[in-house]
Amino acid sequence: MENSVLLQMKNIHKQFPGVYALKNVDFELQAGEVHALLGENGAGKSTLIKVLGGIYSIDQGDIFIDGNKVTIANVSDAQKNGISIIHQELVLVPYMTVAENIFLGREPMNALRMVDYDKMNRDAQELLDAYGLNIQADRRLGKLTTASQQMIEIIKAISFNSRILVMDEPTSSLSDKEVDYLFDTIRRLKSEGVGIIYISHRMSELNMISDRVTVMRDGEYVGTKVTKETDNTELISMMVGRELTNYYTRTYSATDETVLQVKDLNSGDFLKNINFELKRGEILGFAGLVGAGRSEVMRCLFGIDPIESGEIEINGTITEIKNPQQAMKNGLALVPESRKEEALFIQQSVQFNTTIKVLEQFMHGIFVNSAKETDIAQKYVDDMSIKTPSLKQVVGNLSGGNQQKVVIGRWLATTPSILILDEPTRGVDVGAKAEIYAIMNELARQGVSIIMVSSELPEVINMSDRVVVMSNGIVAGCLEREDLSQEKIMHLATSAM
Ligand SMILES: Nc1ncnc2c1ncn2[C@@H]1O[C@H](COP(=O)(O)OP(=O)(O)OP(=O)(O)O)[C@@H](O)[C@H]1O
Ligand SMILES: [Mg+2]
Repeated sequence: MENSVLLQMKNIHKQFPGVYALKNVDFELQAGEVHALLGENGAGKSTLIKVLGGIYSIDQGDIFIDGNKVTIANVSDAQKNGISIIHQELVLVPYMTVAENIFLGREPMNALRMVDYDKMNRDAQELLDAYGLNIQADRRLGKLTTASQQMIEIIKAISFNSRILVMDEPTSSLSDKEVDYLFDTIRRLKSEGVGIIYISHRMSELNMISDRVTVMRDGEYVGTKVTKETDNTELISMMVGRELTNYYTRTYSATDETVLQVKDLNSGDFLKNINFELKRGEILGFAGLVGAGRSEVMRCLFGIDPIESGEIEINGTITEIKNPQQAMKNGLALVPESRKEEALFIQQSVQFNTTIKVLEQFMHGIFVNSAKETDIAQKYVDDMSIKTPSLKQVVGNLSGGNQQKVVIGRWLATTPSILILDEPTRGVDVGAKAEIYAIMNELARQGVSIIMVSSELPEVINMSDRVVVMSNGIVAGCLEREDLSQEKIMHLATSAM
């Protein structure tokens, strides 16, 4: 046991202005081990691995690899020490090809000292094939789905032949099939003696794949457990510092009043004859496999993608929605799936990001009542328990899960009558999930109609009044609450493939 210790991090401290992100944290990884890192949003998980990856310098503490003390001052030091990191946010370059992304900064050269594109494409293709991915190495990365991009990120990390591989929420945008595939890859690397640090908020994954779990809370080390010898209740109470008992109870408040009716909607080559309706005070789930067309429907409703034919009726009136401004005027709000690409102004403050939509909607240019702006921002920071040192903090400095909460808060601040949430709890910890559910429940009770797109079946089943199931660009069926089960949803989700 003793000599298989690959990595030790001891007494690690890291401070940011106003935030003590890591306080005296210890962590240990063995060869061939999958060691999960668990903690609430903002607990310090990503910071710990960024310190290991040379992205942040440590204020205090030591890192040992194979028992030898090492200095990791930058990313290339980390690579030299055999450390590869798959970050929480994608860091690939969309306008480059898959091969260029994989070999960025270490491109193979020809005799003329120019990039040897043929060799690069061949090598990349070999890697993609070896891992069974059906992706062309010379495709522009931006053309791939988010899930495929995520897989490229993983292949890239593996291609360094690292001994220590860190995965920060690798599955947040993967479908079940891809998760299975990722887990096969992890098992293969494990058997080769690679040590893997695995960060995820999905407890079921930790149970499946990890050997040990280390829990962090508020920047501090709480403890380490052998996965087989613990359970979710114990881990969650370590995580939140108390026992998390009954979440909340969903009160159903749908009325008979139809607020939104979508009739024979067609868009692009993909969406065909979409029909469904939404009642006042209802939570309507949208289930389906990744790529079934759920987000596309939402983008049409919100005026982002054009509609080819079909009608949208809001409160009984046929309504044209050509752009998001029109959508908002008609009382719609859309919390998009990907917070980085579509949503956040990463360099701006929490306050700016929370109030921007309200300002766009109500202000006509010049007057900004800044006291009111602060009030609104503070309300949503409180309601959503957003962890930030102040309203002035740059949003890019918040933890991933807290960024997600800012996006939701921003749209709640527009007080919509129809709220569309696309994967609202992705990357959000168990406690914050419960908070988001409670907010949805309360909004529905107040008469807001909610559409929730989600790939997590338990969430869809527990939260929805009814569920529309999509498959391959069509509505495969709609299930009433009493008919909801994982089997029925999956059956419909695969029916048109
Ligand atoms: N560059 C930075 N500048 C200032 N504060 C930061 C920076 N990076 C992280 N923080 C703060 O450090 C704390 C820990 O953040 P970290 O990203 O490590 O959390 P996390 O455990 O990964 O959370 P999540 O589950 O939401 O991803 C948070 O309070 C965060 O706001
Ligand atoms: Mg994180």
